[in-house]
Amino acid sequence: MARNIENSIDERRRAKRFFNRVGLAFHVIDRRLGPEYRRALEVLSLPKEATVLDIGTGTGTLAAAFVERGHQVTGIDFAERLLERARRRVPSGDFRLMDLVEVEAMPAGSFDIVCLAYVLHGLSPELRSTTLHHAARLTRNGLLIFDYSCLGPWYVRLIEWIEGPYYRGFLARSMAEHLSAHQLTIEQSGETSSVGGWWWGKGKKEGEQGRGREGEKGGKVKGEG
Ligand SMILES: C[S@@+](CC[C@H](N)C(=O)[O-])C[C@H]1O[C@@H](n2cnc3c(N)ncnc32)[C@H](O)[C@@H]1O
Repeated sequence: MARNIENSIDERRRAKRFFNRVGLAFHVIDRRLGPEYRRALEVLSLPKEATVLDIGTGTGTLAAAFVERGHQVTGIDFAERLLERARRRVPSGDFRLMDLVEVEAMPAGSFDIVCLAYVLHGLSPELRSTTLHHAARLTRNGLLIFDYSCLGPWYVRLIEWIEGPYYRGFLARSMAEHLSAHQLTIEQSGETSSVGGWWWGKGKKEGEQGRGREGEKGGKVKGEG
């Protein structure tokens, strides 16, 4: 058990170094993801009074899209270099330097909407599960996830291989499967690019647990051997 915790701390330390080092690449990533995030928010049309927690906010690309629509946004991330840029881009955002395991200290139902944009695929199964558990606990209205839905081209696979070993394992299960383990079902979903999607999940209503899954869209794994 103690060994698991130590492994997980080492792994998060390595991931933090990785994200702080690749900060410049986020200029390119932001240009691509910004329009995708805006399109999904347009479709979802969430009430602008809804408060948002963006877990793993990075340089605040999704936070910026929410703020443009009038939302109040809190973003957390453990990579200080990325957060510096998020603060410059989105001055009205509340950006906190935090490891995502620290959300444990936040009271249940602290935010209307909780988001995880391209975070889950890079986490170990244990950390992914802890993160989804807390995301489900912290939201009053729903959980918005953006992530890969199938294996990307060689350069995406290369980047993900450098980031860590969890990308393929993440894709081996559909988003519905990832979420159902936390009593969340998918109410709405869409595609963002050829390799990504978004999913809007909500807690299962009482009596619905164990019924058939919704929103299998986006769970396909192309080209996995
Ligand atoms: C691929 S980036 C996505 C950034 C942002 N959500 C976006 O869409 O542009 C993953 C983000 O998760 C953050 N992250 C990964 N593990 C984390 C952890 N344990 N605690 C806090 N942030 C973490 C990284 O620092 C990085 O900013």
